[in-house]
Amino acid sequence: MSDTVLIFDTTLRDGEQSPGATMNQKEKVRLARQLESLGVDIIEAGFPAASEGDFEAVQAIAAAVTKPQVAGLCRALKNDIDRAYEAVKEAKYPRIHTFIATSEIHMKHKLGKTPDQVVEMAKAAVSHAVSLTKNVEFSAEDASRSDWDFLVRIFTEVIDCGATTINVPDTVGYIQPHEYSELIQYLKKNISNIDKATISVHCHNDLGLAVANSLAAIHAGARQAEVTLTGIGERAGNAALEELIMALDTRRDTYNLKNNIKINEIFPSCRLLSHIIGQPIPPYKAIVGGNAFAHESGIHQDGMLKNRQTYEIMTPESIGRKGTDLVIGKHSGRHALKSKVEELGFKWLTEENLNTVFEAVKELADRKAKIYDEDVEALILEKVYRGEKADKKFELGYIAVHSGNTPMPPNAAVVMKVDGVEKKHTNFGAGPVDAAFKVIAEMTGRTPTLLQYAVNAITGGTDAQGEVTVRVEENGRTAVGRGSHDDIIVASANAYINALNSLVNKEEER
Ligand code: KIV
Ligand code: ZN
Repeated sequence: MSDTVLIFDTTLRDGEQSPGATMNQKEKVRLARQLESLGVDIIEAGFPAASEGDFEAVQAIAAAVTKPQVAGLCRALKNDIDRAYEAVKEAKYPRIHTFIATSEIHMKHKLGKTPDQVVEMAKAAVSHAVSLTKNVEFSAEDASRSDWDFLVRIFTEVIDCGATTINVPDTVGYIQPHEYSELIQYLKKNISNIDKATISVHCHNDLGLAVANSLAAIHAGARQAEVTLTGIGERAGNAALEELIMALDTRRDTYNLKNNIKINEIFPSCRLLSHIIGQPIPPYKAIVGGNAFAHESGIHQDGMLKNRQTYEIMTPESIGRKGTDLVIGKHSGRHALKSKVEELGFKWLTEENLNTVFEAVKELADRKAKIYDEDVEALILEKVYRGEKADKKFELGYIAVHSGNTPMPPNAAVVMKVDGVEKKHTNFGAGPVDAAFKVIAEMTGRTPTLLQYAVNAITGGTDAQGEVTVRVEENGRTAVGRGSHDDIIVASANAYINALNSLVNKEEER
């Protein structure tokens, strides 16, 4: 048995199914490149049959990375499999990941199929996938609630058809660590051709056990773990990559297993994801939360001063946490910015992108006393990734608001371009954000419902940039928009306009 655990990252597929974590194609490609720097073995890039947007994003990721395998998820249906292969085929190492449910409750109530029919579908799916690529993963959805002997039967059959990875998902986060360990051992013992496939685990966190379960399965012989950055994913999420890796690393004495993750890229990767989806990492989050290495109590602080190992089992530096260094000032040159941008992991920005960021940093430095790494990252995301004009129907020019506890109701005046034509408009609202959104909605002729509005300070300090996320719904379609600026009203307006542009793009896609 191999002594290396393969890391299969599904942040861009299962992770993206997390409410509010939708990413556009550029954001997905950006994250995929960071996952490549992190050293994941397989990137699950999406579910190509789900939509044209998903298909194109998977294709773009397949073209953007060269080291990891790129997997496309598909149901055990010929058309789905063809679509998945079409999307990943240009990757250096393409993988088809096909699945069908195997628990009684799913087979009977969701699929309306008998176990025999499910086995036939799985065999047909894997055989077809293998005719396209030799790198095929088969997942038995809801495996943890499936009959163990049925799992032995279906896995044996699909390995005979050529599946090289068999995945045993705890789809609903139900299993307990000791049971999962027993299940993996049972499969290893009873699947006669198991030497031809890698056993994979995929755990959900409904009972808070996703990482514990994954580790139990690895200890029992699984050699691929399916994880996401910070544990984002369907419902309570998936097993968190950073927790699993740091457990394997910190407790190498008990696991004695290798993996290919560059642990100093863990923190930059999680922080990038948080910036992209506009959701802050909770301070109490293991490994990457703001408090994960903070020592508050006097006894702990005293111990730390005497010997860090009294209360620290790993160092923040090891996972790439360098602290919020003051980086760039008003007088910093282009060269200093370039090396900072590279240090932050944005190695592929063009000269034109760098100039745009340089101008934005200088502008921000006029208004904000200290510029931190997070500020530079936010400006790159705002100006380079969200800032491209090509697919924008609506574009903000200027915005001014009046608010406060005065007799004059809050109001907003906006200048913006709609289809390239400049428009001006003003209106009142319950507050400045309400007024701004009302004016923008009227100018664009859209009537979306605002489902979510969240603002997050990127750094400390009252002059911090605000990162705003909005989620809107119109005619049954939802879209997310993000914006960052040191003026939160400007950030809000940009986020709202980005969401409206995304709605338009989704309509055009249809
Ligand atoms: O949770 C699950 O079962 C899945 C499969 C598609 C692997 O995400
Ligand atoms: Zn899942």
